[in-house]
Amino acid sequence: MSPVGVFDSGVGGLSVLAALRAELPHEHFVYFADTAYAPYGERGDAYVIERSRAVVEHLLREHGVKALVVACNTATTAAIHLLRADHPDLPIVGLEPGLKPAVAASRTGHVSVLATRGTLASAKYATLRASFAGSADVRPVPCDGLVKAIEGFDSAGIAALAERYMAEAGPFGDGPGEVDTVVLGCTHYPLVKDELAKHAPATLRFIDTGVPVAQQTRRLLASAGRLADATEATGAVGSLLLQSSGDVAVLEAAAARWLGLSAAATA
Ligand code: DGL
Repeated sequence: MSPVGVFDSGVGGLSVLAALRAELPHEHFVYFADTAYAPYGERGDAYVIERSRAVVEHLLREHGVKALVVACNTATTAAIHLLRADHPDLPIVGLEPGLKPAVAASRTGHVSVLATRGTLASAKYATLRASFAGSADVRPVPCDGLVKAIEGFDSAGIAALAERYMAEAGPFGDGPGEVDTVVLGCTHYPLVKDELAKHAPATLRFIDTGVPVAQQTRRLLASAGRLADATEATGAVGSLLLQSSGDVAVLEAAAARWLGLSAAATA
């Protein structure tokens, strides 16, 4: 049975992979972290497009993936339309900051969006904002350096940047003019949600899109007739292969540290 390919610039897409495996326990997954070329978010579209195309070629050539999840907001905004044009028969699911659910959930009408500079500067984000912000005050907070700190397991760096960007995202609360909802618009950020939450009241709502993306992947696989069923999977759960353009040990450590995942891995 062919696997579903999932990729990100690095370890961030593991937050989406966890939701995918929970939603689709019988599927085989191959996760590719483009660590040698990360981060994507501060580098511009041409770079992200070139890397996204290279990773997808690899996943098709080496693994014959039957569907693709672009588990990276930055790569989705820069490249998903091109990937779909390159591979019209491949079901492709992308990620975008959860503005729509955030605006719907907010009672104060003040929402902050933490994301990479690339995502927040993209035309796709501008369209998203124009479609869903309505009368809400939606504040962009580009989090330069945070992906790099997460990739490097730099606890002190993560703590300092979390404090800085949450200060920019606030003031938080349920009163007039206060932000009550924060969008985690980069797949790395759910991995450090506890660190971010230290700088906000317990009532602050965080929105990430792992679960809806997993549900959308199920829908797409079903409509393409490519959904695995229990009898096709080997054992109770589908397999997981972790791959990286950098050091696969880093990816394995991240999977174990943040998600308690273990998997067969190849360099
Ligand atoms: N995890 C990625 C995202 O969702 C991008 C991180 C990066 O490479 O800057 O945007």
